[in-house]
Amino acid sequence: MPTAPKPDWVLRNASVIDGTGAPARTADIAIAGDRIAAVGALTDVTGASEVDVAGRVAAPGFIDVHTHDDRAVLSDPNMACKVSQGVTTVITGNCGISLAPLETDTAPPPPSDLIGHRPEHYFARFADYLDALDSEPPAVNVVAQVGHSTLRMGTMNGLDRAATPGEIAGMRARLEESLEAGAVGMSTGLFYPPANAAPTGEVVELAAALAPAGAIHSTHMRDETEHVLESLDETFEIGRRARVPVVISHHKCAGSPNHGRTRESLPRIEAARRAQPIALDVYPYVAGSTVLNPRRMMNASRVIVTWSKSHPEATGRDLSEIAASWGCSEAAAAERLQPAGAIYFIMDEGDVRRVLSSPFAMIGSDGLPHDSHPHPRLWGTFPRVLGHYARDLGLFPLEEAVRRMSGLSAAQFGLTDRGILRPGAYADLVVFDARTIADRSTWAEPTRPAAGIDLVMVNGRVVWRSGAGTGARPGRALRLQELGPKGRDREVTA
Ligand code: ZN
Ligand code: CU
Repeated sequence: MPTAPKPDWVLRNASVIDGTGAPARTADIAIAGDRIAAVGALTDVTGASEVDVAGRVAAPGFIDVHTHDDRAVLSDPNMACKVSQGVTTVITGNCGISLAPLETDTAPPPPSDLIGHRPEHYFARFADYLDALDSEPPAVNVVAQVGHSTLRMGTMNGLDRAATPGEIAGMRARLEESLEAGAVGMSTGLFYPPANAAPTGEVVELAAALAPAGAIHSTHMRDETEHVLESLDETFEIGRRARVPVVISHHKCAGSPNHGRTRESLPRIEAARRAQPIALDVYPYVAGSTVLNPRRMMNASRVIVTWSKSHPEATGRDLSEIAASWGCSEAAAAERLQPAGAIYFIMDEGDVRRVLSSPFAMIGSDGLPHDSHPHPRLWGTFPRVLGHYARDLGLFPLEEAVRRMSGLSAAQFGLTDRGILRPGAYADLVVFDARTIADRSTWAEPTRPAAGIDLVMVNGRVVWRSGAGTGARPGRALRLQELGPKGRDREVTA
């Protein structure tokens, strides 16, 4: 029998939580190259490097299914905000906005400015974007979607109307070319002005290109407030008519009149799931964050300015305070701050817990990496679910928390051999202390790294250790063609 090559790493005495929801068990983990070579009692194996991780959990690296990291993975490739949480893969292109395919000589309208505020941030072809990641890889793996608003911007001369049949054909050609290049799906942001005038049929005609390619559809729905149920129905209809798995982004019922209404929305989603593949993602906070829109403050009880081009000194301050000091209304202050971004306190804690507790909820940060004073979800989402919600509040077992940020997400997006800790899988993994893991980012100090994360590995290389990034950038741009079938989340349900 040929002797197996000596592993590069052996992690000893780990409490292994494998991402399927199965109970933790003690084992050693051997890593050779970019794969996990063995898991078990590996007494006669010696690694080039050995680490005793007794008392620590080893889990599959977390998959952040909802990000706006499209440009951050190129401009800040160490991605400390994510690897410091144990995240090893990010899914980009959410909420209708992506950096490709778009050729433009003007600054794109909000909310695209959250990911790219200059024409040179954009890529004419999706292949160019993925190639850029290949030549300058980040620390994390990247799975990229195409934004519907981005397709509209590249095809239409005005965005305040439905696309014509000719424009739909143009968008569909660009979408198909992007899928061929490796995009994994198309997102919409029907809530936002660049796509709000798009009727359901326009989205269906584009989404119909996804199913034959094995791609998925994700959506920041048209409405997450008063008409959230109608928006859910529209989302189900798009999935059904286009025969494509759908991901409902950052599910919430926003604005005080709608607090408690996840009691209606979640059963609605569960019922629809019996007939078609539907998933959702959620972040563990009662506040959202996006561009500051003076006409759409969403019944927020508090608004914090996250950036302002015209008044950078307002960053980090409450809008009410700014309005008082300027002697004007909050709407007028929001107008003067343009262009700008904000955090909106719009959710009910009970709703957040109800959505997090849903067995098909995937964890996605929705963090905004270019904001000067970002929402703390950018640095805190995953440790907050593990520490605050699973351990401290006992909302669900740790194994279940891990599954919702690894195995479930990998199955949904078809990430073969990721999101699971077993022999043969990619060595994307995180070692953390379940007793001390905690988010440290706050509304006042939003960029503090989490506590309790000991070691993070991507494709077999260490990217974070003992509170600091290593500078290694072993991430890969994963193409649709190398992924498995989507929408199979039931298979990993414990
Ligand atoms: Zn969104
Ligand atoms: Cu988003």
